[in-house]
Amino acid sequence: MSAETSPVVLITGASTGIGKAVANLFADKGWRVAATMRDPAKGGDLAARQGVAVLPLDVTQAASVAAAVAATLERFGRIDAVVNNAGYGLFGPFETASEELIARQFATNVEGVFAVTRAVLPTMRSQGSGTIINVASLGGLISLPFFSLYAATKFAIVGFTESLSFELAPLGIRAKYIAPGGVSTDFAGRSLATTVGQGENPYAASLGKVMAATGARRSNYSSPELIAEVIYTAATDNTGRVMYLAGPDAEQAYSLQRTLSEADRLAMLRQHAGL
Ligand SMILES: NC(=O)c1ccc[n+]([C@@H]2O[C@H](COP(=O)([O-])OP(=O)(O)OC[C@H]3O[C@@H](n4cnc5c(N)ncnc54)[C@H](OP(=O)(O)O)[C@@H]3O)[C@@H](O)[C@H]2O)c1
Repeated sequence: MSAETSPVVLITGASTGIGKAVANLFADKGWRVAATMRDPAKGGDLAARQGVAVLPLDVTQAASVAAAVAATLERFGRIDAVVNNAGYGLFGPFETASEELIARQFATNVEGVFAVTRAVLPTMRSQGSGTIINVASLGGLISLPFFSLYAATKFAIVGFTESLSFELAPLGIRAKYIAPGGVSTDFAGRSLATTVGQGENPYAASLGKVMAATGARRSNYSSPELIAEVIYTAATDNTGRVMYLAGPDAEQAYSLQRTLSEADRLAMLRQHAGL
């Protein structure tokens, strides 16, 4: 593959975690990479790589989305794959979530995916090819307590992607989603917002149990590099497959819960969550 003919991927949220690992892996494989991020100053080592363009993109800003797609086309001339990765978690009781917190969660995790997808579709349609890869979550297939709003966004992405896959297939465009389990990134740190405010919290007892159970599992999380490998497979396997579980925990939990009755499934999730 010469540099001018190698495929092109646009990745959102490439400053850290899964997005950064995806940018590095695709660059390793010879792809040309538009590694987009809210603050391009965070793209230092990526920017130094050949065939990588670090570009500003905040998925909640329509003008920013349009500018990043235009800059990618100007630099590379085509877009073969998009990885809608930007997103963050929102943890805590639903009741105490402000409208502002809810709106920001959906603006980023759902409407951000819509905006980037809409912005690249005309290009992929005119190419007659392309793959849209949306980073959902195991939490978009199975929900855990106190993640109601995050689950709502990731279940939305799963349904959106599966439906889209049917309507885009006749145009030569594929839509796929990735469902990672736990991944060692900034997700559980700086990227996890909380609905828990000041003052008395009527959910404190069960919230404490869930936080203890979740914290105890962090040592089993997958690396972002492993998730990036699954995303690379989705971009290159040339199949119409839509769902890609990512990480041993995701594969195990998903296959186990499919064998259970609803009562047993809910009991398993309660126990898993420490309730
Ligand atoms: N880690 C997990 O356990 C896990 C599991 C399942 C799914 N996921 C999903 O994986 C994706 C990546 O998360 P991660 O684990 O890699 O966490 P991370 O290291 O915290 O990365 C999150 C990325 O999203 C970016 N981002 C947030 N809001 C944005 C916006 N408005 N516009 C553009 N970029 C924005 C962040 O950029 P800044 O640097 O500017 O903040 C950062 O690059 C998310 O969609 C997450 O829901 C994660």
